[in-house]
Amino acid sequence: MTTVLITGGAGFIGSNLVRFLRRERPDWTLVNLDQLTYAGNAESLADLRDDPKHVFSHGDISEPAHVDWLLSKHPVDAILNLAAESHVDRSILRPSVFIETNVGGTQVLLESARNAGVKRFVQVSTDEVYGSLGATGKFSESSPLRPSSPYSASKAAADLLVQAYGHTFGMDVVITRCSNNYGPYQFPEKLIPLMIANAIEGKKLPVYGDGMQVRDWIHVEDHCRALLAALEKGRAGEVYNIGSDNEWANMQIVARLLEILGKGRELIEHVKDRPGHDRRYAIDAAKARSELGWAPRVPFSEGLLRTVEWYVGNRGWWERVRTGEYRTYYERNYGGR
Ligand code: NAD
Ligand code: TYD
Repeated sequence: MTTVLITGGAGFIGSNLVRFLRRERPDWTLVNLDQLTYAGNAESLADLRDDPKHVFSHGDISEPAHVDWLLSKHPVDAILNLAAESHVDRSILRPSVFIETNVGGTQVLLESARNAGVKRFVQVSTDEVYGSLGATGKFSESSPLRPSSPYSASKAAADLLVQAYGHTFGMDVVITRCSNNYGPYQFPEKLIPLMIANAIEGKKLPVYGDGMQVRDWIHVEDHCRALLAALEKGRAGEVYNIGSDNEWANMQIVARLLEILGKGRELIEHVKDRPGHDRRYAIDAAKARSELGWAPRVPFSEGLLRTVEWYVGNRGWWERVRTGEYRTYYERNYGGR
């Protein structure tokens, strides 16, 4: 029997991961710690509400008392730390909460995990810690850390703390660094869901600068499969890059989304560029492929189509996010429990 603590399990990747692990490891107990910030949505977990093997805990990873209490209540074998402030643009507007959650929260979790004797700690990080690439080359695990935004700097700081806890206290830690994810339940502030939602509503699609910035897209389910592989097969102290060799310029993505939705390019609007905008990310995932026996399975053409279909079919989910109504869902559904 295995009990895993997933933090940030009401977010985009976290909710997909919880559902993925329920399917792939049905005998595991999943404890889900999430503060339900603006990015956390209990509605994304509605189908798991009465699942006895999914235990939701509403709380902050930066609160030592809550994390200690949770670890004393459940025999947690491993932690997958996904809880974070995750949006680059918000980190430019208000950096402090990124330091509090991404750096401070990770340190609290590490300390509590160490005291409770948790056997493995998986830090879910990002390729953005490596900074920006020129026209060629890819990030490997030995690329220098050169974060450019407050978001990526906070994630890099967390990675260093995780490595320090491994080095100093002998904790069993693994770090994964994945490229840009797409798929269902992504908050409509990120490129793909924002563009889909705006296009459906006939609103303008705001492309930053020339739109020729390149991202290396991976379907969230392939990321979830890699996280399970890192948890079960990763070597202690190692970093694993995760990506699926799938580079596209933002303009290509936007054009393809409009095509799938049958909308015209007149909706595209070039707006002021993001300050310090990273030009290109690309991941070399050879180590994860060879050591973890992992490989991405979802072809981009199919994954993107399925994602658009999901947003078309689940309009209520993202409309409630946009109106803010989703924030009352937790109270309505869990109030009095
Ligand atoms: P998200 O913003 O959709 O979800 C983050 C979740 O964390 C939310 O449910 C939120 O409520 C929760 N949270 C925030 N602060 C918290 C706190 N103090 N205590 C407890 N919970 C808190 O993010 P996501 O896109 O699902 O990303 C998850 C993780 O994966 C992050 O660590 C991110 O850095 C990393 N990552 C994301 C991507 C991507 O493309 N989205 C790529 C690589 C790595
Ligand atoms: P985003 O989804 O915010 O992910 P990240 O910045 O972490 O890679 O953005 C992906 C790319 O899309 C990035 O180059 C910024 C660009 N972008 C736009 O052009 N317009 C937008 O409205 C958003 C949200 C992003």
